[in-house]
Amino acid sequence: MREARRETHPSVFAAAPFYLTTKDTKDTKFRVSKDQRDRPGRKGFEREALKKGRNFSNLLVSFLVPLVSLVVKPSSMSEPHGPIRSYGRIKARPIKPRQAGLLDTLLPRIAIPEGPFDPRALKPDATEVWLEIGFGGGEHLAEQAARRPDVLFLAAEPFLNGVASALRHIDARRLENVRVHAGDARDLLTALPEASLDRVFILFPDPWPKARHHKRRLIQAEAVADLARVLKSGGALRFATDWKDYAAWTLERVLRSGLFAWRAEQADDWRLAPADHVTTRYEVKGLGDCAPLFLEFVRI
Ligand SMILES: C[S@@+](CC[C@H](N)C(=O)[O-])C[C@H]1O[C@@H](n2cnc3c(N)ncnc32)[C@H](O)[C@@H]1O
Repeated sequence: MREARRETHPSVFAAAPFYLTTKDTKDTKFRVSKDQRDRPGRKGFEREALKKGRNFSNLLVSFLVPLVSLVVKPSSMSEPHGPIRSYGRIKARPIKPRQAGLLDTLLPRIAIPEGPFDPRALKPDATEVWLEIGFGGGEHLAEQAARRPDVLFLAAEPFLNGVASALRHIDARRLENVRVHAGDARDLLTALPEASLDRVFILFPDPWPKARHHKRRLIQAEAVADLARVLKSGGALRFATDWKDYAAWTLERVLRSGLFAWRAEQADDWRLAPADHVTTRYEVKGLGDCAPLFLEFVRI
């Protein structure tokens, strides 16, 4: 059942055509939209949204989706992540003894092997292979894995406290279908064979809201190409954020790749959490500048 969420200003998507029509779409630096420069606080933002009303959203769905598909052309836009880190801390507070014990005992048992690997070899009876990138404390991962014991879950997270917390969930729920990479998901994407995943979740990735930090965002042209390579045709990519500018950023890059389709038909398709969504720890903090937005892409 869909869950009602706070009203979201549809200008998150109105921002997209602005980017898409700029001439410098091949540059790694994108112009800062007026919307970003003059971004109001959440209260002002919501007031403005209420004023404009939902008609705008309907208009948006009628015009933006076809417009985006017309304007967006596959591109070789290069935004190499190289050594640039997309994450912040890799360790914070001291890890509790029980979790530290699991890092020593459970993690080596369920760690994804180094280098190229075939996920089917990790669980030959798996019906599907799903990947969660940046699982934080692992609540979403553990709940999804418990719901679908037939699915093999790959999971990547460089934040050690997060990995330790996820191990606690995996251990407590006796999950046998999770394999963890305690590191950068981009290394995992490189190591996976082509068309080996059925689903990928990127939920509330670090927003890096300052323009000078945008290069740290996980979603870059190169990452989109990597995701497209490892997803099967018809495979799904779920992206969630509570930063309107990051939603527009992602929409632009994913559609420009020409490798994914966005099948949203009405505003509720991005403003309401999908039926099978599990609320994440970061999501409830509400640190962004809008209500959570969910973009569901399908690999063409
Ligand atoms: C803002 S937190 C959100 C965590 C979780 N998805 C949630 O919603 O509660 C973003 C997470 O992504 C992780 N992350 C950032 N870059 C990553 C990367 N390249 N590979 C894997 N995880 C990454 C960070 O360490 C952090 O834990």
